[in-house]
Amino acid sequence: MPLLPFSALRLFSPLLAPVRALVRGDWLREADADAVLGTLHRGWALNRVFARVEARDWVADDMLELRLLPNANWRGARAGQHVQLYIERDGVRCSRSYSLTRIAADGCLEFAVKLQPGGRVSPYLLHRLCVGDLLELGVVDGDLHWPGDERGVLLLAAGSGLTPLLGLLRDALARGYGAPVTLLHYVRERGQRAFVEALEALARQYPNLQLRWAISGEAPAEGELRGRFRGEHVQGFAGRHVLACGPGGFVESVRGVLGESSPSLQVESFSPPAWNDGEPAQAVSLRFSRAALETTGDSRRSLLEQAEAAGLRPAHGCRQGVCASCTCTLISGCVRDLRSGELFSEPGQPIRLCVSAPQSDLAIDL
Ligand code: FES
Repeated sequence: MPLLPFSALRLFSPLLAPVRALVRGDWLREADADAVLGTLHRGWALNRVFARVEARDWVADDMLELRLLPNANWRGARAGQHVQLYIERDGVRCSRSYSLTRIAADGCLEFAVKLQPGGRVSPYLLHRLCVGDLLELGVVDGDLHWPGDERGVLLLAAGSGLTPLLGLLRDALARGYGAPVTLLHYVRERGQRAFVEALEALARQYPNLQLRWAISGEAPAEGELRGRFRGEHVQGFAGRHVLACGPGGFVESVRGVLGESSPSLQVESFSPPAWNDGEPAQAVSLRFSRAALETTGDSRRSLLEQAEAAGLRPAHGCRQGVCASCTCTLISGCVRDLRSGELFSEPGQPIRLCVSAPQSDLAIDL
């Protein structure tokens, strides 16, 4: 039972100023200060951001919206950005990045979490996390932003790619964006259409918003589009700004169809990157030095995947090269950055396991 209520932590936050000064002056270690504060409440810390779960709401068959109240260390985010959420499972600290669907006026943050069957984090968040539980929040990232002029906006989302676009849409409409906005959401099954009630309420409130859904895995209902994204779905939208979010293949299709004709195109993909130069995968030897483990890997898959396949459990978060939690030191060999194709072979270089694939026999400090 905590000695302080969570609601008191914000009030007492100014009392920490002298403790912070001691840490800045190297008189006190932050971890020691946090250990003491944590005895009063697990969500109290000098700088770490903890948030209490205030509400859980199912917004699709496989998607849950979480409403979180952060402690006073939260430094803010913009609509459309994503935030690392940390949990500990089986002694391993895991995190994933989730997009903000709303930044509420009362300071609460809302995120939507889509179930990834077999995943380590989303099944826990969807099925075991309770109202009143605490989560730790980490890096805030993401560059999507609402276009600055009134030429109209086309929002294209596939699956959980809806979530950052919803955050941006809510924010823009609330700020009075008056030009036409069309949101087109691609899902496999109708039950995966997320936030339907909330979106329809927005469309009633803001007549400039038009909603459409496209269904690929079953027969669409009247007014819905059939199948995956293709050019004929977006005919008539030339001249609009385009924002697209979804798996890599989806955003690449959007780029191919609309990249030339829209005044601006912003895309965000949440698939792990995959480098493809047309060459077949090469077998390489992988040495994980701390684990004293040597195995055979290949030149296509990320080192994170290959380390996990070898039975290791490296710390990681986003699996997209964003959060840096999988960073590790290259001892010898050459890796390719799966996002850019760039090669790195300098011993001692930090590399992100989730976006690095070995290009030669390799040793890393893991
Ligand atoms: S897991 Fe986030 S950068 Fe690799």
